[in-house]
Amino acid sequence: MFTINPFAVLSETIPSIFLQSFVIVMIGLIVVGTVMDMIHKKNVKYFFNNAKKAKKSATRELGTGERVSVIAKTVVYDIGTTSELGAGKRRVAHLLGMYGTVLFWVASVVMIFFYTSTSLTTPSLWPILWHVGAIMTVLGGAWFWFFLRVDVYSEAQPWYRIIQADLFVLALIATSLFGLIWSYLQSLNLDGRWDDKVFLVFYIVSNLVLFGGVYWSKFAHMFYKPGAAIQKNLAEADGSRDNLPPEADAPEQFGMGIKREAPKHY
Ligand code: HEM
Repeated sequence: MFTINPFAVLSETIPSIFLQSFVIVMIGLIVVGTVMDMIHKKNVKYFFNNAKKAKKSATRELGTGERVSVIAKTVVYDIGTTSELGAGKRRVAHLLGMYGTVLFWVASVVMIFFYTSTSLTTPSLWPILWHVGAIMTVLGGAWFWFFLRVDVYSEAQPWYRIIQADLFVLALIATSLFGLIWSYLQSLNLDGRWDDKVFLVFYIVSNLVLFGGVYWSKFAHMFYKPGAAIQKNLAEADGSRDNLPPEADAPEQFGMGIKREAPKHY
């Protein structure tokens, strides 16, 4: 299963142009959902107004080289390692899910666009990345959802309580899990059986929910968070600090109470 391109097998019954059109529609849904979200929340307008205002209190002008270096460091460190989540389980779970999803999506696009309509055999690397990415996403997403999400971890809500905020993580887990099960069943070559088709339908529906639900879910954080991290680090470098006061010139003494319990009440 790990070395079989499931989309190439599927394209023997469904023309690859349908698979490719599906991907294009999903990308369109991301764009529409994110733009609607930005219009509704007015967050990007606020973000740019705030950045413009903060620029006035900059204590130094950054050269192009310096800006590029700050942005590159932010991409590699803050974004690439989700440094915002600090050390610990929360960050490991996010990295598993984030890189798993990236692998799953990139491998899907490559296999659907380059290895379904031609007689080329898919290099094993792509199906392996697709399956490994899906497993990483299921592990990272499930770890987060069952154990780490704030309403369960800090607010003592039961693990089975589902609210709208769970739409993104649950749809993400569902796409990867159904994709894996579909690929496995299809690789068994159960001629005349319906099992793999049922999971193919689940896989399609969960993708429609994930990408069609961008406006209602936390999907767009993957675009906002990097933007905010870059702005924060540029504001740090030019001295404007987003109009926040400078750090106190005093030792960090919070009393013994701070050691009593790890911070987990948000
Ligand atoms: C493919 C890209 C990404 C995926 C698939 C992804 C996935 C997720 C998921 C599933 C959650 C849990 C959502 C929830 O609260 O229910 C989450 C939360 C979060 N993500 Fe991402 N993310 C991505 C990119 C990023 C990036 C680039 C950043 C920051 C630079 C980031 C920062 C965060 C933060 C701070 C949280 C809150 C975590 C918490 O509440 O413990 N994410 N992400």
